[in-house]
Amino acid sequence: MDNPTVIKLINPETQLAFDLPMLSGTLGPDVIDIRALYQQTGLFTYDPGFTSTASCSSAITYIDGEAGILLYRGYPIEQLAEKCDFLEVCYLLMHADLPNAKELKNLIKSTTEHSMVHDQLTNFYKGFRRDAHPMAIMVGVVGALSAFYHDAIDIKRPDHRYICAIRLIAKMPTIVAMCYKYSIGMPFMYPQNKLGYVENFMYMLLGSPCETYQPNPVLVRALDRILILHADHEQNASTSTVRLAGSSGANPYACVTAGIACLWGAAHGGANEAVLKMLEEIGDVTQIGHYIARAKDKNDPFRLMGFGHRVYKNYDPRAKLMRETCHEVLTELGLHDDRLFKLAMELERIALEDDYFITKRLYPNVDFYSGIVLRALGIPSTMFTAIFAMARSIGWIAQWDEMIADPEQKIGRPRQLYTGPIQRDVTPIATRS
Ligand code: ACO
Repeated sequence: MDNPTVIKLINPETQLAFDLPMLSGTLGPDVIDIRALYQQTGLFTYDPGFTSTASCSSAITYIDGEAGILLYRGYPIEQLAEKCDFLEVCYLLMHADLPNAKELKNLIKSTTEHSMVHDQLTNFYKGFRRDAHPMAIMVGVVGALSAFYHDAIDIKRPDHRYICAIRLIAKMPTIVAMCYKYSIGMPFMYPQNKLGYVENFMYMLLGSPCETYQPNPVLVRALDRILILHADHEQNASTSTVRLAGSSGANPYACVTAGIACLWGAAHGGANEAVLKMLEEIGDVTQIGHYIARAKDKNDPFRLMGFGHRVYKNYDPRAKLMRETCHEVLTELGLHDDRLFKLAMELERIALEDDYFITKRLYPNVDFYSGIVLRALGIPSTMFTAIFAMARSIGWIAQWDEMIADPEQKIGRPRQLYTGPIQRDVTPIATRS
């Protein structure tokens, strides 16, 4: 990572010059190392939203938003989506390389063995109103996991961190499915060890104790792909939240819960649910023009959900893959004439041809399509973000683990540009206007 190049910073008031070292990664822009800036110059940098700031170094995921490239541990997302399943991707994110057959078998065994949750955890669900949003339940229940696994929560021990990762990957589908079953008043379904990871999730989510449930393999593959595409995305808002929470030494379940809370927002993981809500609101192709005009109006807060991305200023590679899956699923289910799907395709066409969206480089993002796929799978839109959280848990835990093992890791503590009142004295209440 070391690079002898330096950038000179000259303070215009004092004319003092400072050398700031440049660091190079294996891919992507070089960074200016400003760690000693304040100490040397008494200055902070200002970057709300971290648009130009690398908050850490990481060897997990690489994104080139201009070129539309996404790599997990160096492997292109297109190849992973075509050739691997979600558990192989989990192994890759955790261990830095793809598993061989034996390693994958071991991961399947461990995640299968840990898929049940402690029976007392079911009590936490009962504390929620039955119409609670699944993400509210997720924040509570995943946070509660911290109270169950004192046996392996020493974050300095790699073996403890590994077992935390396995527990999270294994239990997330069970926890998410239980959120849904609770909301519709159906009994919780126990995981079935004979089923694969995604099949088992679909069984727990959509099956019932009264009937046999046989997931359709095309739909299993589609959901598996959604999980792969959402597994990690470098230092996005929720992952940065997990890292920030973890930087204080908090336990991994608490950190992942912080990530879930962040993911809930409509500008992040809530987008696929928001896409469906928006399509319902538009209602009909004849109304698209009106909504496009609203999206372009600076005085109207309305935005086209599922369009635009902080990093991708080119077509999101995940959106391309999800679009393909979307068509496969709709063909399998004979849903091409579905009202909302037709509306979505027309919206996509118009937005891609519209000057506003072209010049601002606002392309459909992965969540524009994943919402449509999940709906076709029979999954209600309120569950979409919880499924995203299930997929992203591996990214969160891999990034958290990388941070804890990083010798340069420090507690995250940003500074600020203060714009409040300067120091003043408290006056007696009777004299205050
Ligand atoms: N519809 C209409 N206009 C938009 C949209 C949109 N979806 N997205 C951005 N713009 C406009 C903004 O108004 C802004 O215009 P201006 O330059 O005239 O002020 C310009 O494009 C840039 O937008 P910013 O908000 O500054 O871009 P930023 O990178 O901060 O935001 C974000 C990215 C939050 C994703 C934004 O595009 C958005 O709100 N999209 C809709 C929500 C969504 O789909 N989120 C999912 C993200 S993907 C994920 O989390 C997996």
